[in-house]
Amino acid sequence: MSDAQQPAVQLNHTAVYASDRQLSAEFLAAVLGLPVGAPFGPFLPIDLGNGVTLDYYELRDKPIQSQHYAFLVPEEQFDAMIARLEAVGVTYYADPHHTEAGRTNTLFGGRGAYFDDPDGHNMEIMTRPYARP
Ligand SMILES: [Fe+2]
Repeated sequence: MSDAQQPAVQLNHTAVYASDRQLSAEFLAAVLGLPVGAPFGPFLPIDLGNGVTLDYYELRDKPIQSQHYAFLVPEEQFDAMIARLEAVGVTYYADPHHTEAGRTNTLFGGRGAYFDDPDGHNMEIMTRPYARP
């Protein structure tokens, strides 16, 4: 899609379910090097660079369905993010099915890795977006 065809509609926020919103938001924020925002009602927000807010929302009496969230991150910050995962003992993987532990991938000419958040959401960091045909 060319710039001239960019849609005017943008993702603004989405809820991320967590059994402990503070724990989960702080985990992701620490890995990505971002601040956790002030609570907004039942939500605990993390603001991302493209204007999208992840609103952590506590779900206590239901199982949490694992979702996939992928973050485009600067190449120069990727190693620090991997180091933070290693520092807190969270295993990262080269692949979305978590079979290649302790490795990163080089998809689309960039680098990427997958890791679980405290509730099992499959998080991905990558330095280049997926190239779709
Ligand atoms: Fe992905």
